[in-house]
Amino acid sequence: MMMHQVKVERLLVNYKTLEKFKRFKEYGNQELSMLEDLESNIIENNSESPFFGIYYGNALVARMSLYKVDAKYDQYFTPPQDYLELWKLEVLPDYQGRGYGSRLVDFAKEYQLPIKTNPRINSHGFWEKMGFQKAKYNMERDLGENPLIWTPEGVAEQSVS
Ligand code: COA
Repeated sequence: MMMHQVKVERLLVNYKTLEKFKRFKEYGNQELSMLEDLESNIIENNSESPFFGIYYGNALVARMSLYKVDAKYDQYFTPPQDYLELWKLEVLPDYQGRGYGSRLVDFAKEYQLPIKTNPRINSHGFWEKMGFQKAKYNMERDLGENPLIWTPEGVAEQSVS
């Protein structure tokens, strides 16, 4: 199968998308506040969300949230720089192992910015394969996190102690 042809699209915030999100395990506060914002007209129907996804026919089968963090909030890279926070990467069980997860990560890499993620337990093998490494970071501020990072070539490597 030629996975590079699988289309990654930015998801719009609407009731239909939020309904599709219910099939994902990591459905939580972010989705609930989107729903509230829609209901109270704080956000418009069909406004852009931080989510990107892959459709298989009409079914949303894989998704991730991706947003840019300003260098002034960076505590993962040296020197501090703008980076992408990637989270909620998830492929529905029936669609795992078909390259959708790596397609989404490759899509994020195309921005040529460093990427930081907090992997779920059990997914370390996947992230290793994607070229992510443990981040050296400010432990006191991020207790309980186990961040992994990736840097594009040409961007300063994080300093390793
Ligand atoms: N551990 C080790 N390697 C893994 C892996 C894992 N949990 N999941 C995928 N891989 C490997 C694949 O074998 C593949 O290797 P290959 O290129 O040599 O064939 C590569 O990573 C890319 O796999 P891909 O098909 O893109 O993965 P995916 O679409 O299934 O997405 C996850 C990966 C982890 C995002 C997805 O499976 C998921 O959402 N899982 C949900 C829960 C979870 O974390 N499960 C972990 C296993 S219990």
